[in-house]
Amino acid sequence: MHLTKDEEHIFDGERGWANQICMKILVRLGELFKAQKLIPIDSAHISGVSYKTLGDAPIEFLQALADAGGRTRVKATLNPQSLDPKYLLTRLPKAITNKQLTILKQFDKMGVTQSLTCTPYYLVKPEHSSHLAWAESSAVIYANSVLGACTNREGGPSALAAAIIGKTPDYGMHVSENRRPNISVNVETKLQDETEFGALGILLGRILADKIPVIQGLENASESDLKQLSAALGSTGMTNMFHLIQDSHQIKKEKLQKINVETQDIKRTIESLTTASTQKPDLIFIGCPHCSRNELAKIACLAQGKKIKPQAELWVCTSRHVKQQAAADVEKIEGSGGHVLTDVCTIVSWTEMLGIKTIMTNSAKTAHYAPTLSKAETILAPLTECLKTAFQG
Ligand code: F3S
Repeated sequence: MHLTKDEEHIFDGERGWANQICMKILVRLGELFKAQKLIPIDSAHISGVSYKTLGDAPIEFLQALADAGGRTRVKATLNPQSLDPKYLLTRLPKAITNKQLTILKQFDKMGVTQSLTCTPYYLVKPEHSSHLAWAESSAVIYANSVLGACTNREGGPSALAAAIIGKTPDYGMHVSENRRPNISVNVETKLQDETEFGALGILLGRILADKIPVIQGLENASESDLKQLSAALGSTGMTNMFHLIQDSHQIKKEKLQKINVETQDIKRTIESLTTASTQKPDLIFIGCPHCSRNELAKIACLAQGKKIKPQAELWVCTSRHVKQQAAADVEKIEGSGGHVLTDVCTIVSWTEMLGIKTIMTNSAKTAHYAPTLSKAETILAPLTECLKTAFQG
């Protein structure tokens, strides 16, 4: 890999240990994927923030990096943590919340914005063709496919190293020829809601491995639907982007291998993601990935004048940024007895410690992970059904 003089100096430790170790992480990664050089990035998005998923071991490394003067050179944001600043902070054991706060403190020292969201694109929308170093698969796929930015699926350490150096190795999704589709998917059924888009993602992730699909038949997709598709696709496969196409002639010209998705495939996938035997969830969870302003407005509209059933809880998860902008909608949701939580989600928190055994959600990604990561049974259904279950009457 070719390094500039300045990069060599960093590599040799002339700018301190923190910069040197970050440069070494990036160079190692670049060599592994045969990158020729490092390229500047506009932003980094760092995962591995929740104490639940991170554990104890990396905390020392984060502390060492922060103490040795590791500071971000580009805009850097954080994925969700394991609690929110109010509701869960008081419900989870002190030993856990203290560890989580220690982790956040290290990122804060290094200059990482405490965004604590998996939808960093609602804070600052990346420019088309800009280069990023983002972790969090749902955001990576959304950025590449919907926003037209370029990012590989980083791990927490490589995203942090890129934030501190301000660069990333030039390979994978940063190289235009690697972004071309190599399989064609024809969705033969009109998907009805966000849950069906999520189910399509789960299904394609399992089939495609790391292939890049060009998908035909999603003309009715909203940005929220594509967010669900991105999140689910990243959960079951290694695909980093998809293309949407309206024109079947284009696909014929490309002579790609073709697969069809039918109504039954979607139905079966949704059924497989519902593991609960009861129709009475302890928790109804909306906001995987974190809600946009439009989604909060829709939930508020459905929540207005209603009351949550006494035996159920409603969590609506979003970012601090979006919550701040949607005060009136938040009031309506909270007026119904729901909780609009920032910084967190069910998967990266300890719902099992709160006695939650059954989670109902409109997110295929959450339904995919909850049985293993939250030890919960799942009911996967669209937003309207989730809210019908949550409210009385
Ligand atoms: Fe975000 Fe948690 Fe889902 S981090 S993508 S809400 S699993």
